Amino acid sequence: MTDLLNVSYDTQIPNNVGLSSDKKVLKALERWHPGYINWWNDLIPKNFQDSLIYLRTAVSVDPKGWTKFDYVKMPEYRWGVLLAPQVEDRRIPCGENAGELAWQEVPGEYRSLLRRLIVIQGDTEPGSVEQQRFLGLTSPSLYDMRNLFQVNVEEGRHLWAMVYLLFKYFGRDGREEADDLLRRSSGSEEAPRMLGAFNEETPDWLSFFMFTYFTDRDGKMQLEALAQSGFDPLSRTCRFMLTEEAHHMFVGETGVGRTIQATVDAMNKAGITDPYDIDKIRSLGVIDLPTIQKKLNLHYTLSLDLFGNEVSTNAANAFNSGIKGRYMEMRIKDDHKLNNDKYPVRTVKDGAIVSEEVPALTAINMRLRDDYVRDAAGGVGRWNKLIAKSGVDFQLKIPHEGFHRQIGVFSSVAVDPDGNILSSEDWLEKSKDWLPTKADGDFIQSLMKPCFEVGKYASWIAPPKVGIDNKPGDFEYVKLHMA
Ligand SMILES: [Fe+2]
Ligand SMILES: [Fe+2]
Repeated sequence: MTDLLNVSYDTQIPNNVGLSSDKKVLKALERWHPGYINWWNDLIPKNFQDSLIYLRTAVSVDPKGWTKFDYVKMPEYRWGVLLAPQVEDRRIPCGENAGELAWQEVPGEYRSLLRRLIVIQGDTEPGSVEQQRFLGLTSPSLYDMRNLFQVNVEEGRHLWAMVYLLFKYFGRDGREEADDLLRRSSGSEEAPRMLGAFNEETPDWLSFFMFTYFTDRDGKMQLEALAQSGFDPLSRTCRFMLTEEAHHMFVGETGVGRTIQATVDAMNKAGITDPYDIDKIRSLGVIDLPTIQKKLNLHYTLSLDLFGNEVSTNAANAFNSGIKGRYMEMRIKDDHKLNNDKYPVRTVKDGAIVSEEVPALTAINMRLRDDYVRDAAGGVGRWNKLIAKSGVDFQLKIPHEGFHRQIGVFSSVAVDPDGNILSSEDWLEKSKDWLPTKADGDFIQSLMKPCFEVGKYASWIAPPKVGIDNKPGDFEYVKLHMA
């Protein structure tokens, strides 16, 4: 059994899964590698491929010290296969097999279910990099550029993580799926990414920050659920991915926070107290708070859609088989089987939103979404503290779960951010106040000018409180190679 903490670099693909003695899988991964590098090279603009980026690379899976920071050219980044250490005598945490030894091989009866979950997870990873591909060109600072590329290379590594599982455990089907992960692409007509939110554009940096705050957090919840898997290699892979994911949400939370900070600072300096004095605020070169709220509404609701239908037999099957658990499964005090339990789900009945008790097994998605909503509220509270501290009278709010939904029970009705059901005429008239309009997008776009001077920041975003790896404010996070 491999339970190495340190990452070995003796093969082309850094790993802690003993690839050098697993020739078949190593060969398969080496065959897949050039396609991956081509994908990366086609994606990121050439100038940035040649630039030196101050990136962290995983050198261990020991949570106490797993990274090393250094300047790297991105195409030379060492994407690796890293699994959290094996827990001895680990048991399946939930479902009808609860309490049995975790599987080290794929159980035959759950093979296609497992493969599907791994492919869906794998598909999101390159999808987000594709969505963010042009952002480097308009980066508000070298610090932010470095953070963008850090997120991007790690999403690339997450793709490797899923591809390893496909090659190692799913034979020929796995190989085909791995190739398809590079064939599909975000927003493509013929072969789009599998989930809606990964085919939307990330047209500007505020979208990027909202995406990393809200959508990467959906990723976190999905990984948390898969980290509970009775299929041990999947659990170990996801556990290590979660350590990286925390940084992505940090980039999102601080990015939105710094955007807010620049806005309230500029308002105070200009003596503007009304947050809805939009033209005046925009003329200061910052993004008004109501527009930030609209962006929040959009990205939050797209992320809610990623949890799928509230009531789902697929989700019930995944839980019942022990393939996917609940958030913090081991800390929940119940029988972990849920055969007789109920769970409340909000739904639409006779034109009203009501709560209904359903069998808990079928409400696994709903429960994970509820956990997500609680988790996402934390950062919004911290953003509001920034605003309150500045003296500006405004609060950001997470909209009602029924607002602007494309998936699930609320997709059939129009709901306002407070949870009132609207006629479609009312929705048409009012939604421009709740979701970014073309004019809002154009305005934000007008601010997206690169700021590549060391230690400088674009007008619309405040500098960070602390540097990455404790570097000082004038640290050169990217040594640009501009042709
Ligand atoms: Fe990821
Ligand atoms: Fe992420």
